Amino acid sequence: MEVRVHRLCEVRRLGEKDFVLELEGPFPTVRPGAFAMLSLVRDWPCLLPRPFSYFDLREPTGEVREEGPVFGRGSFLVKVVGPGTAALTSAPPGSRVRVTGPLGRGFPAPMGGKEPVCLAGGVGLAPFLLWARERAAAGAGPIPLLYGGRNARALVGREEFEEGLVDWRLATDDGSLGSRGTVLDLYRRLVGEDALDGEAPVLCCGPEPMMAAVAAECRNRDLPCMVSLETVMACGYGVCNGCSVEVRGRDRFEGARYAKACVDGPVFDARELRW
Ligand SMILES: Cc1cc2nc3c(=O)[nH]c(=O)nc-3n(C[C@H](O)[C@H](O)[C@H](O)COP(=O)(O)OP(=O)(O)OC[C@H]3O[C@@H](n4cnc5c(N)ncnc54)[C@H](O)[C@@H]3O)c2cc1C
Ligand code: FES
Repeated sequence: MEVRVHRLCEVRRLGEKDFVLELEGPFPTVRPGAFAMLSLVRDWPCLLPRPFSYFDLREPTGEVREEGPVFGRGSFLVKVVGPGTAALTSAPPGSRVRVTGPLGRGFPAPMGGKEPVCLAGGVGLAPFLLWARERAAAGAGPIPLLYGGRNARALVGREEFEEGLVDWRLATDDGSLGSRGTVLDLYRRLVGEDALDGEAPVLCCGPEPMMAAVAAECRNRDLPCMVSLETVMACGYGVCNGCSVEVRGRDRFEGARYAKACVDGPVFDARELRW
């Protein structure tokens, strides 16, 4: 983990409340699903920084560290929900952004077996660009990614993915894009039609009710399921206990009732959590 001040190069608007923050590097290679704590150096309206998944890393600098190449650009997908996200997305280019990261456990790389199916809701899309790149580099075909939102305007960010990285399947609550219903309805339908491998592990990131429903579905189908939690966080690196989540006392937590989403997650095996 490092604390570094980065120059904000660009804030790209993707939709009504969704933006990409593009920052000048250097950024190290991170696992998809890892996150950083962000704040503005000046005019930051909050007491604490805010957590965001790494969205994209581009422009390798030529430097290579133990975990992989170092990148000249890094970006975060940000939905405006309150003062911190509003300040970050309205900051002018050239602003200085403090980034503490990389933090947390990302999605584990598949150890052979079936290619995971990815389910994303809203800004839960963020970890899947790096995931898709990693799978492409490993020789896997376009990753199956089911992406759901309230309506067509909510399904932002697909244009940030290069052609051929993802086999997109879309769902909207109002049917304005893709199939009508939730991303889980879509998953069930595609599996029922044999258009999706119903025995593949599932990776999921999105609003908590969506992840709880997906976790329950996977439990019923006896499928491995990894979820990335967006628990409210204060420090991001294990010292404040502000991100406690109730877990089942599996070996990893040595029987403890609570784990810290920032260091034990944010990616958990869904069976480790008490929903
Ligand atoms: C590991 C992790 C990764 C994340 N990745 C992203 C990302 O890639 N893109 C993105 O846009 N957001 C992401 N988030 C959520 C983001 O951190 C919050 O939206 C942000 O902290 C809100 O800050 P704020 O000051 O704008 O709003 P606040 O004033 O902090 O919150 C505004 C409202 O949103 C609610 N809220 C705040 N945080 C959360 C949350 N995590 N879950 C549910 N409700 C919340 C508050 O209770 C309040 O009602 C992530 C969170 C975590 C923990
Ligand atoms: S956010 Fe402080 S311990 Fe997790």
